[in-house]
Amino acid sequence: MLIDRYNRRIDYLRISVTDRCNLRCIYCMPECGIIHKPHKELLSFEEIIEIVAVMAELGIDKIRLTGGEPLVRKDLVNLINSLSKIKRIKDISMTTNGILLKRYAKELKQAGLMRLNISLDSLRQDRYKIITRQGRLEDVLEGIRGSFKVGFSPIKINILLLEDIDECEISQFLRLTNENPINLRFLEFMPVNSFYKSEKLFSSQMVMDIARRFQEVEETSVYGNGPAKVYKFKNALGTFGIISPMSHKFCDTCNRLRLTSDGLLRLCLHSDLKVNLREPLRRGLSQEEIIRLIKLAVEIKPKQHFLDKETILKSQEFSMCQIGG
Ligand code: GTP
Ligand code: 5AD
Ligand code: SF4
Repeated sequence: MLIDRYNRRIDYLRISVTDRCNLRCIYCMPECGIIHKPHKELLSFEEIIEIVAVMAELGIDKIRLTGGEPLVRKDLVNLINSLSKIKRIKDISMTTNGILLKRYAKELKQAGLMRLNISLDSLRQDRYKIITRQGRLEDVLEGIRGSFKVGFSPIKINILLLEDIDECEISQFLRLTNENPINLRFLEFMPVNSFYKSEKLFSSQMVMDIARRFQEVEETSVYGNGPAKVYKFKNALGTFGIISPMSHKFCDTCNRLRLTSDGLLRLCLHSDLKVNLREPLRRGLSQEEIIRLIKLAVEIKPKQHFLDKETILKSQEFSMCQIGG
């Protein structure tokens, strides 16, 4: 079992399978794009499987594939097929922008993917286009419909609270939960780079205020491994959650490690602390030695982030597509 020095049990690994993306969200990428990792530095599927197998021995039983956009990685379905056969892995999920889901939902389900979280920051075609620079809202909506059709459940929708989201749009999202078995999550924006700044924080409390004005709200839960707090309207089919890394830090219950597409094990989303697993793996270190490395890494997992207090250092700036959220 992996327990860190703050007594947090680590049982969840987020795996970024690529730093490439088919969108260019304004908060994630600068206009000119980012420099991608050279292909030879990317972990192969065999390497990812080897790392997950070792992690599973150490008590990691939940994995989430992220990106960039995971579905742009070639043959991803084959990776999921192999991961789903690893003993002790009981939850395999993916966070995707949903653009390619209409093509892949069925294969993903057949390969053993259990859950989907889909990023969708706006239901207004014009605003969606501005945020993603090149996305077509209809593609994502079709992807969501297709995912329901092949039986994915729960399907969670991540809505980033950018400062220009307004009450009208939040209500538009919330209203959907009455008639649809959909699980929305409103995410507070985290300042992780200097190319996109949000001057004021649209907090999850503001969402809750809007919801309470709207209808009676009850607490509930949806299966998940993350930090969302979940609510629903009375008699609604769906739910809405809030993820509040800024206004209510949840670091004391952090259960996760992150593996980047080039094989670095990151100990916290907001810390530069990382351990390179790719090189030892390529140099042929034994499984015992890799296990020792992972255990050492977990020992230096930071207690919390300081985004609320510090301005980010240039050296710690990142784009979410390099780590996967
Ligand atoms: P579930 O298992 O469905 O609960 O997944 P999840 O909420 O862990 O996954 P998802 O990829 O949808 O994460 C949602 C968002 O929560 C991320 O994009 C981040 O914005 C935020 N988040 C997730 N993990 C962390 C974390 O460790 N620290 C911070 N500060 N934010 C996080
Ligand atoms: N703050 C909070 N969440 C973010 N995401 C991307 N950038 C940020 C940020 N700065 C979210 C996306 C997606 C997930 C992978 O990370 O909206 O749902
Ligand atoms: Fe792609 Fe997600 Fe970054 Fe948007 S936020 S550019 S969908 S990785």
